[in-house]
Amino acid sequence: MNIMFASSEVAPFAKTGGLADVSAALPKALSKLGHNVKIIMPRYYNINPANLEKLPFSIGVPIGGLGTLWAGVYKSYLPGSRVEVYFIDYEEFFGRSGIYADENGYSYVDNDKRFIFFTIAVFELALALKFDVDIFHFNDWQTAAGTALLKYRYNWLFPKSKSVLTIHNLEHQGVFSKDAFNYLMIDWSHFNLYEFEAMGLTNLLKGGIAAADKITTVSPTYAKEIQTPEFGFGLQEHIKAHSYKLVGILNGVDYDEWNPKTDKLIPFNYDVENIEIKRKNKLILQERMGLEKNERKCLIGLVSRFAKQKGIELIAASMVGLLHLNADFVFLGSGEKWAEGFFSDISSRYANFRVYVGYNNELAHLIEAGSDIFLMPSMFEPCGLNQMYSLRYGTPPIVRAVGGLNDTVENYNPFTKDGTGFKFYDPTREALINTTKWAVDSYYKDEGYKIIQKRGMQKRFSWERSAKEYEKIYKELV
Ligand code: ADP
Ligand code: GLC
Repeated sequence: MNIMFASSEVAPFAKTGGLADVSAALPKALSKLGHNVKIIMPRYYNINPANLEKLPFSIGVPIGGLGTLWAGVYKSYLPGSRVEVYFIDYEEFFGRSGIYADENGYSYVDNDKRFIFFTIAVFELALALKFDVDIFHFNDWQTAAGTALLKYRYNWLFPKSKSVLTIHNLEHQGVFSKDAFNYLMIDWSHFNLYEFEAMGLTNLLKGGIAAADKITTVSPTYAKEIQTPEFGFGLQEHIKAHSYKLVGILNGVDYDEWNPKTDKLIPFNYDVENIEIKRKNKLILQERMGLEKNERKCLIGLVSRFAKQKGIELIAASMVGLLHLNADFVFLGSGEKWAEGFFSDISSRYANFRVYVGYNNELAHLIEAGSDIFLMPSMFEPCGLNQMYSLRYGTPPIVRAVGGLNDTVENYNPFTKDGTGFKFYDPTREALINTTKWAVDSYYKDEGYKIIQKRGMQKRFSWERSAKEYEKIYKELV
């Protein structure tokens, strides 16, 4: 099948989170199944054109109120594969340092224009390439309106094509002024409470959900959760109304990148059969972060955006209790400024806590490899990748039983020695501290820890399996 895969971020070209990982790994897996997938993304300023091929044509992008804007197109491939990546080049919208926000974390005020422009460009590029598209696959609010563009504006040019919209995170819906609807150039009759309108404003994800031929989200549990007030961010009733076309498909892991046996970013490679080598990575991690070098001491790692979603507030509120456990902590992350300041402060005052504020892929690998326990107490988690990485690296995770965390981690049972990690349910300090204490105690004195550690390492969340589920959906549509 011919698939046009549109995403606002694709690793390794541009990444703020898991969306970028998925936008590379899923097309790669689909192409291995024999499909012709073309990825399309904006060319942000940081993507050096010298490494890309400039195509000898421009595309005209008609956008409401602004006329036709002419965009350049670059081309490249996903590293180590034959999957084509197309970059839409338009200086005024994408020639900036950030993807969605400036250095201070403020969202760009013209994100409506920027991403609607990009979404329209998806169709214009498909036409320019004469690509006979079976499936337009859109991701999150940034490209969600593509489903409506296909149905109400480009249908006569793509009469056979169908649309799939994947929700990676419902918190962000692309809510803009009423006027933003103009950019889409679709009939105002679609600005109503069942499509694009939300309390007088334009909600791109809401409209996208209404028009999609199929909606997916990134885990089966999250597919259920988003139909409830606790996780629906106000769209629960809307999603419920469209649940007949909704499925949850668990993300996979790119084991070319995340495999302790072959990982080039960690000092010592290891696997289930020589797991004792893992300790050498721990010593390096301790040294690098300025913690006491001590093979035995329990080390708890965290790699995360510092955002409410990730349970950062809960961790901060539980800090005193956590610091009193017989364990060291190493955190890697960035995001909310208060959290960066708070953890830096703790880091300078407590010998058993260290934080690295920033984005650092190599350190993320070392933390997975060097820690004994991984912490991921999310308030909500559509899928989550780090808990799956930590399983593979023999670092049993502590997770809250939500979304993909619930679907990928099995709770430890000390009696039967079943499970792969430690789960809690209530988003309270008591639950987090007690579960962490339980995990630390298990690490020191329980044979069960070693059993679940090995079991986790042997689990596989393959992209091939996920890609086959997407393939099934595509086939049902065309
Ligand atoms: P989300 O997309 O909600 O942030 P995921 O768990 O799906 O969460 O994906 C997060 C991805 O970003 C993972 O690949 C993780 O390793 C990476 N990551 C997050 N924060 C950092 C950081 N500070 N440094 C390096 N990698 C990070
Ligand atoms: C979002 C979610 C995360 C998920 C990722 C990829 O960023 O927050 O849980 O793993 O998308 O689907």
